[in-house]
Order: sequence, then structure tokens, then C-alpha cells
Amino acid sequence: MDVLAVASEMYPLVKTGGLADVVGALPAALAEHGVHVTTLLPGYPAVMRAVERPRALARYPDLFGGPARVVRAMIDGQRLLVLDAPHHFARDGGAYADAGGRDWQDNWRRFAALSAVAADLAGGAIKGFAPALVHAHDWQAAMTLAYMRHGAAHAVPAVLTIHNLAFQGRFDSGIFPALGLPASAFAVDGVEYYGGVGYLKAGLQYADAITTVSPAYAEEILTPAQGMGLDGLLSARRARLHGILNGIDMREWDPSGDALIPARYGMRSLAARKRNRRAVEKRFALASDESPIFCVVSRLTWQKGMDILADVVDDLVAMGGRLALIGTGDQGIEGTLLAAAARHQGRVGVMIGYDESVSHLLQAGADAIVIPSRFEPCGLTQLYGLRYGCVPVVARTGGLGDTVIDANEAALSAEVATGLVFEAGRGDSLRAALRRAVTLHREPGRWAAIQRAGMKADFSWGRSAERYAALYRSLTEGPAPE
Ligand code: ADP
Ligand code: GLC
Repeated sequence: MDVLAVASEMYPLVKTGGLADVVGALPAALAEHGVHVTTLLPGYPAVMRAVERPRALARYPDLFGGPARVVRAMIDGQRLLVLDAPHHFARDGGAYADAGGRDWQDNWRRFAALSAVAADLAGGAIKGFAPALVHAHDWQAAMTLAYMRHGAAHAVPAVLTIHNLAFQGRFDSGIFPALGLPASAFAVDGVEYYGGVGYLKAGLQYADAITTVSPAYAEEILTPAQGMGLDGLLSARRARLHGILNGIDMREWDPSGDALIPARYGMRSLAARKRNRRAVEKRFALASDESPIFCVVSRLTWQKGMDILADVVDDLVAMGGRLALIGTGDQGIEGTLLAAAARHQGRVGVMIGYDESVSHLLQAGADAIVIPSRFEPCGLTQLYGLRYGCVPVVARTGGLGDTVIDANEAALSAEVATGLVFEAGRGDSLRAALRRAVTLHREPGRWAAIQRAGMKADFSWGRSAERYAALYRSLTEGPAPE
């Protein structure tokens, strides 16, 4: 089965978060189930640089304001189609925002362009390529479904995955005429959303199936508290909504073969983590001792509960813990964390920035990873933590609660505990979890049992890829015979 995936980022070419990891890892996992994925990506500079000998398979003399073409590429084993549209994507800065962090003002047009082309490809624009199904990710690709339904690909089944309901691609109604959709599409059962245009909303409306990235989040988004204005629509379409847990790329994230860490190790050689720990101490200017190092690898935002963490840093240090943090995001939160590092030299190290190799080092050398999210569709860093023996301390929400087993007495004695779980949004609960972690860490046998249980847990893509493949088949072949 040929599937066209549409996304705005893909590891390792362009990544701002977990979306890229998922879009990068799913194709190989699906291949094992007979699904051949081709991914359409925007031709950002980093993507275009990786394309060798670009050859146009489709051309657009005027794609929302300038010429564009679609080129084929095989990069890192990934089958790609790249939308080379310099007026939309050939810019210095980020995928969605300029170097100063301000969203590109024409994002509505850039991602409408991506989506319109995706729909065109689904409709057979390239000779010899007729995907049986389209799988779009997040709001940046969601308009694909609108363009499909109002164009040549109206009969091709389409799946939309929600990676984060907080980002919806909501724009003023004034953009509607420029989208090139029929006037009838500006309606409650189309792209209209609270008087404006909603990209994610449109995709949810037109999708044959909607997926999100954990079973818990699939339930949470049906509630007004977590539905972010879309709970009504999602509830109405509930029969088509599936929660399929993300997996991890077992080769990129493998402590026994990771080229980005000083000492490689496995379940039976956990002692080797000590060398990585020394490297973390050096990198984050922490004092060298045996107290536990808690790490954070995160966007520094309200969603991630980083303000809550900043509030408990003093307590963490008083308990005897250390903190090594890498992240970027909210300037206010960055400032608070930098101030905490200045207050607690040698105990708290903060690196404002984004660095893939530091993220691997932290997972391999820190004792625990803290993820205090207010909501978390899936979360990948706790899964990397589990695989690396970096014990996750997580808020009970979304995918975090689905993947970490709290070290309560029962779970500890059954040796099934994999981390510590606390109540989302609550500093007192986080503080108590950190205290429990510090106490447990003093008992090396118990701590190692938690690490090993986590390392044994299987969060590879296998089972989840099978579910996506089954979903694709149910949409392209109808229900399986009894
Ligand atoms: P989200 O996509 O909401 O940010 P996820 O946990 O799904 O959260 O994915 C985050 C991804 O981005 C992980 O691969 C994580 O390691 C990576 N990441 C986040 N912040 C940084 C950073 N500052 N440096 C390196 N990697 C980071
Ligand atoms: C989003 C979510 C995160 C999820 C990732 C990949 O960025 O915030 O929870 O893991 O997408 O699905």
C-alpha cells in the first residue's frame, strides 16, 4: 500500500519537537507491515541542501504568489517529496518563526500551499504515484484534507493525526478568498471556525479517521478542560477517533550503540553510566558527588509546566538533588531558570538552547528526567528516559500517565515500577515526587530495579505501527471479512 504522509518537520532534516521524531520513525516501522510511505515536506533550506540532483516531478507556475515545484529525494532511507517553493520556505530562521521567535506572518499561506500541493499529489499529479491513502500531521498539514475533499482526490481516504491540540492554525476569515476553496467550504461543516478559518478544525471535520498520540489524550480532548474549543467537534466524531501511542526509534535511541554519548551501556552494565554522569557534571558545571542529577530536556513553556519546576528548584537543591536543564522557549521562564542556576552554582546548571547531542548525554548520564507537563499528548522524552535508565518523574497526564508506572510500594515490591508519577499542575505534588526520588536513589538496589524495569519496557514502534497499518487497511479495503 502506498501512503502519502504530509508534515512540516521530520527528523533529522528539520525538528522542533516530537512531531519530527514521529514523522521520521513511522515510515520504517510501517514498511514492516507492507505500507510504503512517501513524505511530502516543505523545502526549507536544510531540506533543499540535502536533496541531490533535484528533478521536478510537478510544477506550479503560481503557488500562492510564486513558482514552485515538487522534487523527489531519498534521504537517510526516507522516500521524500519536497515542495521547493522558495517564496514560502527559503528563509533563514525557523520552520514556523523567524530567528527572533516571531511567527512568520504568512504561515497561513505557506501551509495552505503545502496542503494544496499534497492534495494535488493525492489526486494523481505525478505520473506513476497514486497513493491509496493520505496521512496528514497537525495543523500545518491539516488543510490537505479540505483541498482533497474539494478537488480531484475527494475519494482518497485521509487520516489526520493530532500531535498537540494547542496548536490549531487559526486565522482571520479575511484569508478565506485567497485559499482557493469553493465558497461553500466556509461553513460549520467546513473550514469555518468561530468566525475565522481553522486549519486543524477543517482537517478534523473532513478526516475519515482522526488519531492522536496516546489513549489517555484521546479521552482528555473530549472534555471542555482539554478540548481547547474542539471538544464538541471531536465528541461528535468520536467513533472515528483513535488513540495510538507513539513509539521510539530504537536505533536513534539505544544506549548500547549511541555514538553521541561517552560510555555506552545496557541493562547489565549500568555502572558505565557513571562516566556519562561525570560528562554531564562537566558540561553543566555541576559539583561532582553522588547525589542524584535530575535533568530536563524540553521546550520551556507553560504546557511543559516549566514555571512549576522553576518554583521548586530551591526545594530540590535543599533535598540534596542537582538539576541539569536544556531547553528554549518562553523568555520569562528562561530568565527564572537562569536566575536559579546563578543562585545555586554547582547544583543547578541551565543551558538555553537546542542540542540533540546534549539531549542524548543527559538521558545517558542523569539519574532522572523531570517532565511536569500540564498536558502532554504523548511525550517522547520519558520514553527515551525509560530506555536509557534515566528514571522519569512525570505528571499524570496524557501519554505520560500511559507510559510510566509509579514507584508506589506495591509496584516496587512487584518490581514493575518504572518511574514516579505526580498530579499534573501541582507544585506540592511535584515536590513530593522529587523527595521520593531522592530517597529511593539512596537505595541503589531499589533504584537499579526501577531503571531495569524501564529499560525492559517495550516502546518500540512495532505494536503502534501495526495499529496504523490496520487503520489504513480498514479505510482502503473496508472492514476485514469475518
Ligand atoms: P514536544 O514535541 O511537545 O516538544 P516531545 O517529548 O514529544 O515534546 O518531543 C520533544 C523532542 O524534542 C524530543 O526528541 C526531545 O529530546 C527534543 N528536545 C526538546 N527540547 C530539546 C532541546 N533543548 N535540545 C535537544 N532536544 C530537545
Ligand atoms: C507534540 C506533543 C508531544 C508528542 C509529540 C509527538 O509535540 O506535544 O506530547 O509526543 O507531538 O507526537
